[in-house]
Amino acid sequence: MASCLVLVSALLLTLLIAWICAHSRRRRPGEPPLLTGWLPFLGVTLDYARNPLGFLRATQRKYGDVFTCAIAGKFFTFVTDPFSFSVVVRQSRNLDFQKFALGFSHRVFGHADFTHPQFTESYREVHGIFRQTLQGAALEQLSESMLCNLQTLLDRAGPGEHGWLEEGLQSFTNRIMFEAGFLTLFGKDAGFLPERTSMQKAEREFLEFDGAFPLLAAGLPIALMARAQRAREALAEELRHDELHQRRCVSELIQRRMDVFDRMSLDEAGKARTHVCMLWASQANTLPAAFWSLYYTLRCASALSAARSEIERVLSGQMWNSPDGRIRLSREQLDSMAVLDSIIEEALRLSSASMMIRVASADFTLRLDSGQTAAVREGDHIALYPQLIHMDPDIYPDPTEFRYDRFLDERGQRRAHFSKSGRRLKLFLMPFGSGASECPGRFFAVQEIKQFLVLTLWRFDLQLCGGGALDPDGRRAGLGVLPPARDVPLRYRTRTHTHTHTTH
Ligand code: HEM
Repeated sequence: MASCLVLVSALLLTLLIAWICAHSRRRRPGEPPLLTGWLPFLGVTLDYARNPLGFLRATQRKYGDVFTCAIAGKFFTFVTDPFSFSVVVRQSRNLDFQKFALGFSHRVFGHADFTHPQFTESYREVHGIFRQTLQGAALEQLSESMLCNLQTLLDRAGPGEHGWLEEGLQSFTNRIMFEAGFLTLFGKDAGFLPERTSMQKAEREFLEFDGAFPLLAAGLPIALMARAQRAREALAEELRHDELHQRRCVSELIQRRMDVFDRMSLDEAGKARTHVCMLWASQANTLPAAFWSLYYTLRCASALSAARSEIERVLSGQMWNSPDGRIRLSREQLDSMAVLDSIIEEALRLSSASMMIRVASADFTLRLDSGQTAAVREGDHIALYPQLIHMDPDIYPDPTEFRYDRFLDERGQRRAHFSKSGRRLKLFLMPFGSGASECPGRFFAVQEIKQFLVLTLWRFDLQLCGGGALDPDGRRAGLGVLPPARDVPLRYRTRTHTHTHTTH
């Protein structure tokens, strides 16, 4: 009871301080237009949260390419001109990307505050591990392990020769991708529970915790969300170092992170929570991205036919020679699948709604592509909202339409250039962010989604049941790839490679 009172008082005090801060700010000469709204603390949060893309477009029309908004007690300076995105991303001297990300992660995952000077060196090492273990030879290993896990799970999931199985497409995708991704990073259980039972439990806990993200991002303390907190702690329990040491085939990424965390003076729960953070980073966007990639392919007859032809080109020959009936896909084969690349990129363009945030480490003047300048204060947040580019009809005609070949050129190869008003854009597709904070897992993410598409389309006849448009869940705007607002019924059966394939 006493701790609850302390928490509520601390919250009220924070709100009061934030309200005073928000309303004591006045626009200074050289600064962008300032929108503080009428509501204490919230500023323009409600207008923004209702429809971020619509709000930013309308504000851009009214105030120009750069403006500052008071949102949830902070000041965000949005840069909205697509040509200036690369200016912000390149500006590394006065803009810090880790401060915001690590602060958020500390608050939500409950691990140590890695912005503290005592962790500077070790955290640099932790960060370096991403690039060393998610690219090159280590990536090949990861990718091979993922392909093997996916096939084992699909063997188990597969319906018999003639029967149809029914399940939601989202439930199917989450089930297969979560377990395969989890086993690939964190290795296989050597314990007493059957793997599937513990995986179902981990998936449920993950989805419970992940479901709380919109509120956590809005600033609500996790202590006020008992179920989400319990789910996070249950995941942390499964990812304790003594548990991980018992597992087989733990990825190099996780092993090396464990080594560094063991050398840091973190307690066991703190170490485990950093692994929950890694689990979240590796799954929260991948699951909905895999969903949309398969969903759009099944909804579009020409996409399905082009994807199947490409898969057959790569797999035919190989299948007759495979002694164990297992599919092998080399890096070169995966890279040669331009149609699947284009399908995944188009699905990401339509569904990703992330926000890139940098914190100004000093007062400075930002010079946009047009030459316009904007004075920025130390501590302010500079924000880019890539959906402004992804949904711009001058860059992508009919931007709300899924076109499976949008990212292919006339020779069927990867299209490398997009323009706006006749001028070539440096950045035109940013589901993985860009610059210093660009997602280090992006190569693995695309490979695992590609493997998922290859295997499901090769092995199964799949039919979506029930038409109607499916909207993304807008409550997660700003957090990454949006999941669907509801699940869609799916029927699937083992493919004999003589059926014709239809969708409706
Ligand atoms: C479709 C799937 C994925 C998408 C769309 C995605 C997107 C993103 C985005 C937007 C960021 C933040 C970038 C920024 O702030 O500018 C990020 C960060 C990150 N992602 Fe991904 N991601 C995906 C999959 C993965 C996977 C599979 C892994 C690991 C196996 C991963 C690991 C990470 C990590 C560790 C970070 C934080 C990097 C840092 O602190 O510098 N992601 N991701």
